[in-house]
Amino acid sequence: MFNLILFGPPGSGKGTQSEKLTAKYNLKHLSTGDLLRSEIQNKTPLGNEAKKLMDKGHLVPDEVVIGMISTALDSNPKCDGFLFDGFPRTSAQAEALDKLLDLKKAPIAAMLALDVSEEELVKRLLKRGETSGRSDDNNDMVIRERIEQYNRKTAPVADHYKEAGKVVMVKGEGSVDEIFSALCKEINSRIKTKA
Ligand code: AP5
Ligand code: MG
Repeated sequence: MFNLILFGPPGSGKGTQSEKLTAKYNLKHLSTGDLLRSEIQNKTPLGNEAKKLMDKGHLVPDEVVIGMISTALDSNPKCDGFLFDGFPRTSAQAEALDKLLDLKKAPIAAMLALDVSEEELVKRLLKRGETSGRSDDNNDMVIRERIEQYNRKTAPVADHYKEAGKVVMVKGEGSVDEIFSALCKEINSRIKTKA
C-alpha cells in the first residue's frame, strides 16, 4: 500500500491534481472537504452543523473528520493506497492518521506540499466562486479567513512529517500539467526507493 498526503493552502490545486494523480497511480482519493460537502448536500445532521463552520471559513471539529476518514479507510480494504487531500489539517488529525495507518502497517510515504502565493490563491478562489456555487468561495473575507486558519493551524502539520523526512515542496504555480509532472517525478522517485 502506498499512501500520500497532498498538502497546501486553500486554492493551491489539491483537488485538481488529486484527480490526475489518483487516475495515474490507482489510488483512492480521500478529500474531507468533498466528504463534508456531500453530507451538506444530503442535508444530514453532520452536514448541517459542518455548513455553519465552513461558511465562515472555520475548521470542522477534529473528531468529525477523523471519524469520516476512519470509516473511509475501513470501507476500502483492498485498494492500492490512499491520496489524502485536505486532511490532516491539525496536529491532532495527523496523530490520529498515523495511528490508523499503523494498524494497516502502511505509513505515509510522502507529503507533497504545493507552494502558491497568497495573492494567487485569492485570485483563483474568487474566480471559481463566480461559478462553483461554493459559499466559501464567493466572499473575500471568508477566503482570507480560510487562509488564516491554514497558516495558524494547518501549516504546522508539515513539521510533523518533516521530522521523518517525508515533506517534499513542489511549486504550485504554472500550468496544471507542469505541476502534475513535478508531482509525478517526486512520486516516482519515492516508489523506486521503496522497491
Ligand atoms: P476543502 O474542500 O479541503 O477546501 P480547501 O482546502 O480550502 O481548498 P480548495 O478545495 O478550495 O482548494 P484546492 O487546494 O483543492 O484547489 P483546487 O484544485 O480546487 O475544505 C473546505 C472546508 O471544509 C474547510 O474550510 C473546512 O471548513 C472544512 N474541512 C475540510 N477538511 C477539513 C479537515 N480535515 N478538518 C477540518 N475542517 C475541514 O483549485 C482551486 C481553483 O484553482 C480551481 O478553480 C482550479 O481550477 C484552479 N486551479 C487549480 N490549479 C491551477 C493552476 N495551476 N493554475 C491556475 N488555476 C488553477
Ligand atoms: Mg479541494
